[in-house]
Amino acid sequence: MNTMSVSRRKFAQLLGAGAAATLVRPRLSFAKPTQPNATSSTAGGTVVRLSANENPYGPSPKGLQAITDSFGIACRYPDEHNNVLIEKLAKLNGINHDQILLGDGSGEILKLCAETFTGQQRGPLIAADPTFEAILKNAAANGAKVVKVPLTNSFAHDLPKMLTAARGSLIYVCNPNNPTASITPKDELRDFIAKTPRETMILVDEAYFHYADSPDYESVIALTKDHPNLIVSRTFSKIYGMAGLRCGYCVAQKETIDRMRPYQMWDSVNIMALAAASASLDDPDQVPNGQRLNSEAKMFVTSELARAGYKTIPSQANFIMIDCRRPVVPLIKAMKEQNVHVGRLFPALPNHMRVTIGKKTEMETFVSAFKQVTA
Ligand SMILES: Cc1ncc(COP(=O)(O)O)c(C=O)c1O
Repeated sequence: MNTMSVSRRKFAQLLGAGAAATLVRPRLSFAKPTQPNATSSTAGGTVVRLSANENPYGPSPKGLQAITDSFGIACRYPDEHNNVLIEKLAKLNGINHDQILLGDGSGEILKLCAETFTGQQRGPLIAADPTFEAILKNAAANGAKVVKVPLTNSFAHDLPKMLTAARGSLIYVCNPNNPTASITPKDELRDFIAKTPRETMILVDEAYFHYADSPDYESVIALTKDHPNLIVSRTFSKIYGMAGLRCGYCVAQKETIDRMRPYQMWDSVNIMALAAASASLDDPDQVPNGQRLNSEAKMFVTSELARAGYKTIPSQANFIMIDCRRPVVPLIKAMKEQNVHVGRLFPALPNHMRVTIGKKTEMETFVSAFKQVTA
């Protein structure tokens, strides 16, 4: 169960005592973990996977070690590991532990928000178009009306229009936005949060927070202190390279978390993911390395595309959106035939191709395949 409990203190005592720690974490020897790669070999050849905005460099070595160390306690429920991660995240974000809810990926947080705050009785979901579709599907499955508000000409959320469309419901703001990799400027977002009536909930999805370096961008976690209707979601799937492990969280006021919790499955985050997430937060290199490698590969691919005459939406994330100047669906198919997998169609931008930033070598393969299919 996801509550802070006496057992956490007991757990801390156990960890503090060397002998007990050995009991909790039996020594197991395993083969050296293999480094994940976005490029994989299949019967059809080597596939370059640039379709899911994953981190090709994988989890922190500390995270991988923590997974190995926790194999021996896979027989235990993950309460204590849950609490350890919550404490670390609370410290990192300067908030109380009861302002955090962990999720089985941030996808679970999005689903919980749809279930808690939208529906036939509660009201519609207001979202940008295009944006990350998961919560739209969750809300529709919950019986809610879904209102789509087109992005502005600069691919920001049209917050005044979204606010007009909302009546005591949930507004989803994805910042940076997937699939456009664009941001909604901090002044506009602050103003919008200040103006939104309390009975209208706001979910700001910061899955790509670590990749944004524009002076016009900021996280709104600090604003949750003054706004009981604000929820901010984050994930370990992107800069922390843990997409396959499933761990995310949200920050909100305690009362808001308490409203969401009953909709959540108990112990939804597994012990390996919790151990890896906690250890990753202790790795000082994971975030700066990921940021640097992403910017270098992104710079390479965007300048190659510009040289070939293709514009991209300025990217504040680990993916780019290319204006292909023609319908993208046949191009996605043609790229697949070259063993390069790129993002799906986003109907609001039918000429744009979403491409995840992989390793430099993968981006070289991408550029040469893209030139071939667009020749
Ligand atoms: C904007 C956004 N939010 C949330 C998610 C879900 O991430 P996860 O469930 O892996 O944390 C994704 C996944 O790509 C995403 O792009």
